[in-house]
Amino acid sequence: MSAKQTLLTGLQPSGDLHIGNYFGALKPFLDVYKDYQSFLMVADYHALTSVRDGAKLRQGIIDIVRTYLAVGVDPKDAVIFKQSLVQEHTELAWIFDCLVTVPFLQQAHAYKDKVAKGLEANAGLFTYPMLMAADILLYNADVVPVGEDQRQHIEYAREAAAKFNNAYGETFKEPKDMILKGVGVVPGTDGQKMSKSYGNTIPLFASKDVIAERVMSIVTDSSGDKPENVYAIHKLVRSETELEPIYKEYAGKYKALKETLIDDLDAFISPMRERYESITDEQVIAVIEEGSAKAREIAKSKMEAVRAVVGVA
Ligand code: TYM
Repeated sequence: MSAKQTLLTGLQPSGDLHIGNYFGALKPFLDVYKDYQSFLMVADYHALTSVRDGAKLRQGIIDIVRTYLAVGVDPKDAVIFKQSLVQEHTELAWIFDCLVTVPFLQQAHAYKDKVAKGLEANAGLFTYPMLMAADILLYNADVVPVGEDQRQHIEYAREAAAKFNNAYGETFKEPKDMILKGVGVVPGTDGQKMSKSYGNTIPLFASKDVIAERVMSIVTDSSGDKPENVYAIHKLVRSETELEPIYKEYAGKYKALKETLIDDLDAFISPMRERYESITDEQVIAVIEEGSAKAREIAKSKMEAVRAVVGVA
């Protein structure tokens, strides 16, 4: 048994990742994962709540693992795995569904936001937090690095653990979120949270042309000399000490500041983009298979204990 604590996070393979995903979740993971027993999951069943195109999802799964490798996660130091290859996740989610109430799940932001927009939520989106609780609790995760928008989901996971422990005796550990100051909500080109659904992203492996096009579209209706939306993105890739004199020198010159940001983003992204392009599908598939086999072993033994206490085994 390792004396290390356990760290787990996951991302949905539902489209191109953006720098919000990187700074909010992947970078915090990268900074500490070697100090923990670490798991990095592909949340493909979660993606089914929104993706309706099999070929696209299949490609998304490969691409997200390619991303994990390109940003520098070493598969020797983290279990990189695919949720759908470990059936215990959906099995445990069902058990949690049977413990929580409908009003409790109705408080979830993802569900509430959908309903508030007058859209119909599918039942998968409604029970989504219990699948995520299963992802986390199966591995006894202590810490879950995520962006601010996932805070409530970690609370749901704690709640699921508590409800289960209360009903059947101490079985699950209550996890903690790891949400870093300053990157919990990475803003997009319009100043709102960067999100694929708002069309305000800078893709993580964008070409210089795409970076330029997105940066030029950053909304700069700020009142002072400093374009806040440009600065908010700029400070992710360059220290504020370095930025201070630049923003002073080019005070009010939004175009020049945007051009500096384009160069800085490109310098930051291009080595990762090159690595991304050099990783083959075969390498990715081998990583998924190896990691998922390891995850399955752990999940299997945990579920044996769960099945026994709930009485189905
Ligand atoms: P997902 O796929 O929507 O997002 C992946 C991660 O990126 C973070 N993120 C951001 N952080 C800062 N600023 C932003 N603008 C921004 N946009 C996205 C998210 O907070 C997240 O950490 N439910 C999860 C996936 C999941 C999971 C898990 C996570 C499934 N099971 C178990 C942790 C543990 C999700 O949809 O993330």
